[in-house]
Amino acid sequence: MSPSSDEIRERFLAFFEEKGHLRLRSASLLPSSHDPSALLTVAGMHPLKPYFLGQEQPPAARLTSCQKCFRTVDIERVGETNRHLTFFEMLGNFSIGDYFKREAIAFAWELSLTVFGFEPARIWVTVFEGDEELGLGPDEEAIEHWLEVGVDRERIVLCPRSENFWQAGRTGPCGPCSELYLDRGEHLGSEGDLPGGENERFLEYWNLVFMEHLQDPPNTLSPLPAKSIDTGLGLNRMAALLQGKASVFETDQFQPLIELGERLAGVRYGAEAGPDRSLRILADHARAMSFLIADGVVPSNEERGYVLRRVMRRAIVEGRRLQLDDGFLTAYAEVVRELMSGAYPELDEQWRSLQRWLSSEEQSFTRTLEQGLSQLRFHAEHAKEHGALTIRAEDAFRLHDTFGFPFELTKELLREEGLGVDEQGFEDLMEQQRSRARRAAGAPSAGKAGDAAQRAIELAGAAKATRFTGYEHERELTSISASATMEPEVGQGDMDGNGGAAKEGIDGNGGAAKEGMDGNGGAAREGARVLLKLEASPFYAAGGGQVSDTGVIECEGGGCRATVERVLRVGDDQVIEVSLLEGSLKPHAKVIARVDHAARHATECNHTATHLLHAALRSRLGGHVHQAGSYVGPDKLRFDFTHSTALTRRERAEVEDEVNDWIAANEEVRPITTTLEEAKRLGAMALFGEKYGEIVRMVEIGDGRYSRELCGGTHVRRTAEIGAFMILSETSSAANVRRIEALTGPRAVQELRRRSDLLLEAASLLAVRPERLTAHLAAQVQELRRLREAAEVGRAGGRGGEVDVEALLGSVEHVNGAGVLISAVEAADAKRLLAIVDEVKAHLREGVIVLGSASEGRVHLIASVSQELVGRGVKAGEVLKRAAALAGGGGGGRDTMAQAGGRHPEKLGEALGAARAEIVSILTAEEARL
Ligand code: SER
Repeated sequence: MSPSSDEIRERFLAFFEEKGHLRLRSASLLPSSHDPSALLTVAGMHPLKPYFLGQEQPPAARLTSCQKCFRTVDIERVGETNRHLTFFEMLGNFSIGDYFKREAIAFAWELSLTVFGFEPARIWVTVFEGDEELGLGPDEEAIEHWLEVGVDRERIVLCPRSENFWQAGRTGPCGPCSELYLDRGEHLGSEGDLPGGENERFLEYWNLVFMEHLQDPPNTLSPLPAKSIDTGLGLNRMAALLQGKASVFETDQFQPLIELGERLAGVRYGAEAGPDRSLRILADHARAMSFLIADGVVPSNEERGYVLRRVMRRAIVEGRRLQLDDGFLTAYAEVVRELMSGAYPELDEQWRSLQRWLSSEEQSFTRTLEQGLSQLRFHAEHAKEHGALTIRAEDAFRLHDTFGFPFELTKELLREEGLGVDEQGFEDLMEQQRSRARRAAGAPSAGKAGDAAQRAIELAGAAKATRFTGYEHERELTSISASATMEPEVGQGDMDGNGGAAKEGIDGNGGAAKEGMDGNGGAAREGARVLLKLEASPFYAAGGGQVSDTGVIECEGGGCRATVERVLRVGDDQVIEVSLLEGSLKPHAKVIARVDHAARHATECNHTATHLLHAALRSRLGGHVHQAGSYVGPDKLRFDFTHSTALTRRERAEVEDEVNDWIAANEEVRPITTTLEEAKRLGAMALFGEKYGEIVRMVEIGDGRYSRELCGGTHVRRTAEIGAFMILSETSSAANVRRIEALTGPRAVQELRRRSDLLLEAASLLAVRPERLTAHLAAQVQELRRLREAAEVGRAGGRGGEVDVEALLGSVEHVNGAGVLISAVEAADAKRLLAIVDEVKAHLREGVIVLGSASEGRVHLIASVSQELVGRGVKAGEVLKRAAALAGGGGGGRDTMAQAGGRHPEKLGEALGAARAEIVSILTAEEARL
């Protein structure tokens, strides 16, 4: 019987384990925060990059893994072909400076024959033919090793760089590669076919990369610290080969998903091209979205969130095309879970989050689709009325860009109406958008900071890794192991003493180039920025959201002194950026390194409070809450988390109270070193996208039931040290991500005092007791409104029905930073009222306007809300709902603009009052600042 995908995975990993490789679990689809260069993990080697670059020590020199991968480049082709996928699993064996080409080739050959049972005569290989631009010749060595294992010379094919040179991005580790192909028989192609491209006869199944160069800048190679091996074998392709299927969609990991689609849609796979394509897209995208969400991605319009949203939307469109009933995304995800959770338990662990995001996106995008459809109908009618055969490219582009309405769908639906679209015009607009995006992506953003990071990486390699001692103490007698001067900051040139820019130089124990600017062995002058490496350092390097320590470094016997500006993390190592105050910092000098205790302690309070906040949010809001980013500094903490709605005032208070209860309970905070397995068993929270080794540091609070997190940061010893915790604000940070900023200890108390002073000041201005303040203000506001309305009516009447827009603008209130204009005006009918709203809007772009008029026995109401306020929860339709009901009618519209009418003109004032109450409550609930 042919092996299942699970069996293939197991056989591959077991084979390499037997050959002395350490089996690694798949890393997250979110690359570790050490690698901000890629949105998603694209290859098995991706999480291992720091090992290839020599930045981190691998747990073993021989590794093997089955890695979850995600590639978006071919997303449009998914469903069109037998093989293209977005999400897939990649099997690989890796050598970090251990074996090289000979063994990699011998292993691949042995496994192909003995484990996969391929006939030797059906295996062909391709080898790198060399490349002038890279200055490399043909890979003779690889040819020789293939001949050694017994491959005939005529089945070794030379291929160019485009096929047989692998690089992890534009720059980075790279090397020539050699690929294995299976000849599936002449009947699938023609005699002249050769491996090295896309044809049905030769199917590539394994890529062996001989990783020996670092490419930076593009086309310039330098040697990596060690010659290494990276191989990649696509599990789904191998399953198709071994299960004798023409397409990956017919293999065991996909068949049940295809069958689900057949059942839900009442169609048969293989009968018609259109539905087949939809079934394939749904199968691939269902896996893709399930795995992305299980790794902590939530749908949004940015970065990974956008990749997720895109696959979800494509799937929803296909579901609609097949007329599937609501809730089909969750039905698909259930099957993905059944098929894959054995190997990937995160699908079980995150099941509730999965259900939540899938159903909410399905519901909201279905609404978008409906809106898009009505827009499209409008454009189609307009075109027909004007006798045009196409709709305008701009309209199709806006549908795509603003409404997320797919262009393919636009074309298809127009075809049904006998219409077309200006495709060239649409393509041009797309191209303009792409080049805008490219410009934005290519813009140099790193500047000096990026430069420092690059220099820090070089310096880290120039001496032994620093021993971090900051968990134990804040003061260390140690010595400088390497240093490099930096360009002085602009404006510091005069402090430099030699009027010129400091020359870059690295000086380390490791014998790196000696180019010190002043020829004294790499020592730097006063005022200069210097990068330093210490043998032992008590300074925490920025990471895991926590800012780096500050402090001072002084020569043991005096004579030199520098302040620590920041501590850069380089893999497991660190480099310190200092600003020199006195003397010079020479390699080998004995120094005393001292952490700024006050800043460290304030940061520790904020860090432990962040863990408590995380725990309180999960306990109050649910397990779908995950950390989506954080800042922990001495000044405050900021915590981003996945949750789709604003917290109510009550939820916020409960979260705050819970954290303060835990603080008062004076719980012990214990960092524990344990295995990843054990930490997971204990339910420790891990950060999505973070890479963890087998041994991890887990921070546990109290008996650990409510807070256990994998964390490398520094913490207080007992929670009572935090003193107090207060939430400053709760806002939206991105779609489906909320942000809390909070203070602890003395800063929290200071902030509370500042707020109470403000309250006292306001009360004394109005000459009332503080507790009477709100009631007093409410009465004043009411009175003011009444007077304004009276004045308004008088003025409008006095000027023959002309509305004085300036006066209207004068009555704009400011509620929690938003401009709010609510007023009754004179207008003969709804059209006139709309014209007045438009006029006001031209002056008040950011805000909410609600105008009402009463004439001839009817009330007209119009609400207009700027996009920004819609984002804060104020929706025109909602605002008018209760108001219109009070005025004896109803209405509707979009989030940004709604109209309503009613039969009770005498209720106009009340209706406007209700609209105002609604707006104020949304704006103040969202961010209750005094
Ligand atoms: N990195 C190579 C690839 O992705 C081999 O693993 O093809």
